[in-house]
Amino acid sequence: MCLRLAKEAGAFYIAPVDRLKQISKGTTNVAKITYIEHGGKQHVVDVANGLTVMEGARDNNIPGIEADCGGACACSTCHVYVDPSWTDKLPAKEDMEEDMLDFAYEPDPARSRLTCQIKVTDALDGLVVQMPEKQI
Ligand code: FES
Repeated sequence: MCLRLAKEAGAFYIAPVDRLKQISKGTTNVAKITYIEHGGKQHVVDVANGLTVMEGARDNNIPGIEADCGGACACSTCHVYVDPSWTDKLPAKEDMEEDMLDFAYEPDPARSRLTCQIKVTDALDGLVVQMPEKQI
């Protein structure tokens, strides 16, 4: 019911299945993102533009990013360490992300980010992030 009303109101919403169809048809751009588990196991996946880095992990069942609050920037369980070669290429942290990182497990002021606050764009193609030993 809510989805129908949103569509009638012209709200922008693409259901995950529709997004997968767009990706397979090549009508949605994707960025290749490498998620590295704390133990070193790598997961290289295509994440559609418009999703967050957290949603890319969640949708691909990548362990190590729990995202307990669902992306509301209220839990810090989507914390990662960004590869040093990428820290200056990402959009700057908002104050809310900066505050929530204080609650993350062993945050690194230079490399820590909350993946729910990073929107995927073409510019993030090749991004590498590493999960911490644990989330909070
Ligand atoms: S998912 Fe909760 S802060 Fe990112």
